[in-house]
Formats: sequence, structure tokens, C-alpha cells
Amino acid sequence: MRSTDPDLLKEYALRIWHYKQGEVVSLMVHLGDRLGLYRAMAGGEEMTPDELAERTGLSERWVREWLLGQAAAGLIDRTPENRFSLSAEGAQVMVDEDAMAFAAGAFIGGFHPGRIDDMVNAFRTGIGITYHRMGESVARQVDRMNRVGVGPFLLERVLPSVDGLMGKLEAGCRVAEVGSGGGIALRTLAERFPACTVDGYEPSGIACSRARRRIRHLPNATIHEAGGEDLAGEGRYDLALALDCMHDAPFPDRIAAAVRRSLKDDGVWLIKDTYCYETFEDNLRNPMLAMQYGYSLSGCLLSAASQEGAAGLGTLGFHPAEAERIVRNAGFTSFRMFRLEDDPIHNYYEVRP
Ligand SMILES: C[S@@+](CC[C@H](N)C(=O)[O-])C[C@H]1O[C@@H](n2cnc3c(N)ncnc32)[C@H](O)[C@@H]1O
Repeated sequence: MRSTDPDLLKEYALRIWHYKQGEVVSLMVHLGDRLGLYRAMAGGEEMTPDELAERTGLSERWVREWLLGQAAAGLIDRTPENRFSLSAEGAQVMVDEDAMAFAAGAFIGGFHPGRIDDMVNAFRTGIGITYHRMGESVARQVDRMNRVGVGPFLLERVLPSVDGLMGKLEAGCRVAEVGSGGGIALRTLAERFPACTVDGYEPSGIACSRARRRIRHLPNATIHEAGGEDLAGEGRYDLALALDCMHDAPFPDRIAAAVRRSLKDDGVWLIKDTYCYETFEDNLRNPMLAMQYGYSLSGCLLSAASQEGAAGLGTLGFHPAEAERIVRNAGFTSFRMFRLEDDPIHNYYEVRP
């Protein structure tokens, strides 16, 4: 091995400490979200630590330390007189849960030690854990982060991108959603299209309980505690949806086969999955690639490899080439990938029998 180059050593050390800083700042973001600090600053006015402490009912000394740290991180603005404010952009990213740019919900304060043990175990055995085992906090995080994407954005931008779909939905048809999580899309569709019946299939009991609460007022929506591979019926559905779940499923090919069986011949399957490509080199275009691999090991791959013999796709595994291979093997003949400008982190696929 060659001897150490002092410049390269410095550069490498700085890079790793930047990551550590990111970890610690992430915890501060979680605290700001959880304690309502960003929310109290969402109006944009400048305030002293005292004023923010007063407004949130928190200790001034702790609020002051947090504000200075946030200013150091470039997340909150500070005047030389120590008055602090959250910009309009900051308010959207940190507070506005109805904004596509909302991010604070992703900051959960670090990993639960039990979860880290699950990951260590998965490295040793090759077997991960299901979303149900990941627990309530992950289910809540998924709901918070996807609230716009599978809510208003689905209605306004995604569904109209598929030829003829809005007309079918307006007229009333049968919809199946696999991997329906906490039921945000189920509720959105059942409310907006009362003439449709919407059936959700979701294997996590925890997510199903959240979905049941969300759709209990809607007679045209149901949730089944089952995987997408257990989709009922033959030629029953006009539309099938799989939103951000194919790469999480241990056997995505079985889901594709079940969707093909239960979809009408003139039906359509709309899939939303991670924005990614087939090769690592191509994926390097994504400035958040390292984070995606981290998400995979701590969530998506855990789920995708939660059974013996699973495909184990993980966050970046359902790329366009794999998607096309899986759906064609299941008997679909028409495959179109599309992207939406305001959603840089997903690929969409329109698939037909
Ligand atoms: C990232 S969450 C997405 C949830 C929801 N579609 C959304 O966009 O908010 C992935 C979901 O896929 C579900 N999942 C895992 N294996 C599955 C399977 N075999 N069939 C259907 N869903 C599955 C998980 O339980 C989890 O709820």
C-alpha cells in the first residue's frame, strides 16, 4: 500500500466529518420539527431567542443554542443583533406539509437501536424485516413524506398523464392499489371519485390500521391486510396502482402476475417508483445517491429481502429496465416510462395488457 498523502488525508477526513455534521444537524432538524420551533417561525418575522422561547413555551437557553446552530447550518437567518428568522423557502421545506418540497418529516432523530440491530442481523443472515416490524414511527414518516405525492399531486399531475384515465375515473370504475401504506391515495381517490370503488392491499398491519382510520367515512374504499401478490379476482379492475412499493416487495414478479390476472384487458397499471437507472454510473447523476443506498439498507432493502429467496431489489432496484422485464414477463405488452417535472425523485410507468 502506498504511503499516506497529507492533502488527500485532510480531504478525506473533511468529507467524513461533513457527514457527521449532517447526522448531528439532522437531529437538530428533528427537534425543531418536533418542538414546533420551525412552525413558530413560519410567519417570517425576526425574533430573539427570548421571543421564540416565549412563543413555544421552551427554555430560552436551549432555544438560543438551537437557533445559533441552525444559523451556522444555513437553515435559519440571523442578524448581527441576534435576531432570527425563517425564510419563505425555509417555511415551505420545514413546515408546510401540503408542499411537495416539505422535508422535515424525513428527519426522525436517528435510527432506533433495535432497527440498527435488525440491519446488523440482515448483513449476517441476508434476511431483513417487513415494514410492519419497522413499526409505527416508520409508517407515520412514510405518510408525512408522501402526503402530497400520493394526494393532490396524484390527482392533479399523475393521473391526467395517462390517456383516458380521468374519464374512466369520473365515470366510475374499479381500482386496486397494491402497497397502499397508510391509505392516503385510497382516501384521495375514493373522495374525489365517489362513483369508483377502491380496494387497497397492504401487508403491514400497522399501515392498515392507519389506512382504516383514514377511510372509515368512505363506503367506496376498503383495505385488505395482504400483499399485492394476493390481489383478488380475474379481470376485475380497470386501474391498478403501485406507488413507491415495487422495489420494497420481496417478490415483485408475483405482484406483476397478480395485477395482470386481476386487471381487465383494457385496464391500465400505473406504477410510481424511485428515479433511477440501471447502472451505478448513470445513477451518479443523482446528487443524493449515497443517501438512497442508506435508505435502501435501512428500509427498502430490509423489506425487499424480508423473506427467504426474495428478489431483494431495494431503493434503486426497480429501474426502468428491471421494471420492463418484470411487467413483460407477467404478460403485459405495453410499457411506457414517463417523468414529471415537479417530481424529480420518481419514475412513472404506464403499463397495459
Ligand atoms: C414506501 S411505502 C409506500 C406506501 C404508499 N404507497 C405511499 O406511497 O405512501 C412501501 C409499502 O410497500 C409495502 N409492501 C411491502 N411488501 C409488499 C407486497 N408484497 N405487496 C404490497 N405492498 C408491499 C410496505 O408494507 C409499505 O407499506
